[in-house]
Amino acid sequence: MPVSKATSIANSNIAAIKYWGNRDHTLRLPVTGSLSMNLDGLPTRTTVAFDPSLTADVVVLGGDIQSPESSKRVSDHLDRVRARAGIKTFARVDSQNNFPAGTGIASSASGFAALTLAACTAAGLALSERDLSILARQGSGSASRSIPTGFVEWQMGANSDGSDSFAFSIAAPDHWALADCIAIVSHTHKEVGSTGGHALAHTSPLQPARIDDTPRRLHACREALLARNFPAFAEIVEEDSTIMHAIMMTSRPPLYYWLPPTLAIMEAVRKWRAEGLPACFTIDAGPNVHVITFAEHMAEVSNRLRAISGVQNVLTARPGGGATLIHE
Ligand code: DP6
Repeated sequence: MPVSKATSIANSNIAAIKYWGNRDHTLRLPVTGSLSMNLDGLPTRTTVAFDPSLTADVVVLGGDIQSPESSKRVSDHLDRVRARAGIKTFARVDSQNNFPAGTGIASSASGFAALTLAACTAAGLALSERDLSILARQGSGSASRSIPTGFVEWQMGANSDGSDSFAFSIAAPDHWALADCIAIVSHTHKEVGSTGGHALAHTSPLQPARIDDTPRRLHACREALLARNFPAFAEIVEEDSTIMHAIMMTSRPPLYYWLPPTLAIMEAVRKWRAEGLPACFTIDAGPNVHVITFAEHMAEVSNRLRAISGVQNVLTARPGGGATLIHE
């Protein structure tokens, strides 16, 4: 086999209804569905080249060659692609993010979505969007949602082999002129990342109640989104984020991701909304705060966030497309 190469680009995404907890950790089968918006302008670009002269996978992230330990998750994902394509060839993976890693922004979502599409293409597989989403899910759950375009729902599925646990688009990026203003309050790497957190979720006595209530929240969020009803959307998005953090804080051991500026932003955003500025917060497994607003208020919200003590930077993104191939 000659060197066979492909490049893909995928956006990160922010969940309005969160994924937290698996029923199968190996296959990354979630205990609930989730719903998200792809973030335009926060992408990962990944080139995969299967090369018969290699004796092991080589993983380069942001120009740095990774150790075998830190390459393992990527290599394991390449193994899934190789098994599916019936090949044994090792690959060189070259990946670049255009946003800071380890800041609570879901870099694994864009990373594994781009890796999946580039690796499958380079391996000669032509998979459907559904099958790409299923495969991306096994690398990182949230990556399943970075395959389809725009506003995306990941259905948890019922099958034990994961064949019906995939994400699909429920609206195009131009369905709603929203914007995400991401207030960075810390750049330090989190101690317990999402993978470790998912494994602890079931230890919270509150998780069964969260799971039982998720169909209601998913329905409310989907309806608000499709009807472009911002007040309803804002309420359910904040509620869902806070329920997830209640699980985190009541896990054994507990996970506290919020820092004092996190809480200051939450308080400010609720006040702005009460005063008439359409904005709501949602927080992933880290202290940074995503503030969702309308595109027309993006500059105003960013300026207000920058004025809050402890906010180091504000990144902005609009609703984005799905994973795509780059033809070089
Ligand atoms: C809090 O998809 O990052 O961002 O499957 O272990 O890679 P792994 O977890 P990941 O979990 C995302 C958790 C979250 C909520 C969300 O994006 O839905």
